[in-house]
Amino acid sequence: MTQFFTFPHLCCPLDGEPLTGNETSLVCIKGHSFDIARKGYVNLLNVQYKRSKDPGDSKEMVLARRAFLEAGHFAPVSNHMNEIIKRLAHPNSEYSILDAGCGEGYYLDRLYRALGEDETSLKVSLSGVDISKQAIQAAAGRNKEIQWLVASNRQLPIQGETIDTIVCGFGFPVYESFAHVLKSQGRVLLIEAGENHLIELRELLYPELKERSERMWPASFTVVEQSQLRYSFELDTNKEIENLLFMTPHFFRASYEGKQRAKALNSLKLTADVRYTLLTKTNSAKHIAL
Ligand SMILES: C[S@@+](CC[C@H](N)C(=O)[O-])C[C@H]1O[C@@H](n2cnc3c(N)ncnc32)[C@H](O)[C@@H]1O
Repeated sequence: MTQFFTFPHLCCPLDGEPLTGNETSLVCIKGHSFDIARKGYVNLLNVQYKRSKDPGDSKEMVLARRAFLEAGHFAPVSNHMNEIIKRLAHPNSEYSILDAGCGEGYYLDRLYRALGEDETSLKVSLSGVDISKQAIQAAAGRNKEIQWLVASNRQLPIQGETIDTIVCGFGFPVYESFAHVLKSQGRVLLIEAGENHLIELRELLYPELKERSERMWPASFTVVEQSQLRYSFELDTNKEIENLLFMTPHFFRASYEGKQRAKALNSLKLTADVRYTLLTKTNSAKHIAL
């Protein structure tokens, strides 16, 4: 059976010193103190990395994403992610997993459950980071066994070389800080939209679809494997279509007319086309200190 242990590797966002704590707060050796919110998360977002009063997804976007994901439309995306992560685990050694840009916690919570059902003797700690306080509040309501943090991928409040696997799903990878917190054999699992992801929605929103440029990887990482998941699913209410639109960047990019075309529909058949890329830290990668 998988054992879960508390994520032990946090550090102060102000000076990088390790954080230790009790039930109500975390503190570093220099006396910086961070309250553990009653809902169970900690806000370790350094104001320097805050570009607006409420960075990241808004409460409405978090609610739309939760409603869409809870309907199960992306359950196969999460299942495929879980299969890859389970394959990377070594029984009997501690395995720390970070979801960088975890949103409202759907994927990490499902990973927790999938690992919990596993027969192998894994020792796992899970942490989810998101810059949106609203997203982390929603995530903390899902699962108290996971360490939820308000923080930026640009400055992860995590000690160097402590993480085995970082998942970054439909998010904003910051390779320098990922390289810093990953162990030497650590992996990043990127989950991204493939060429035809939600193409039917994009065709409604945009007069013409842009061709994608070739994918480049930073020198600090090497591709280990890639896989693709494709399937069809159907949204059969106007509200579901609106929720999907609201949780994607298309909501901000598409024209008013495009969005009106999508919002006028009561059903929509869609393609999910998701690309998984597993990266490992290149041996010579320099670790950039906080
Ligand atoms: C498209 S959502 C994906 C959320 C989640 N991974 C999922 O697939 O449901 C992107 C998330 O990244 C968060 N985000 C944006 N900038 C970030 C940053 N610099 N650091 C951490 N999270 C960030 C947003 O608040 C949002 O929750």
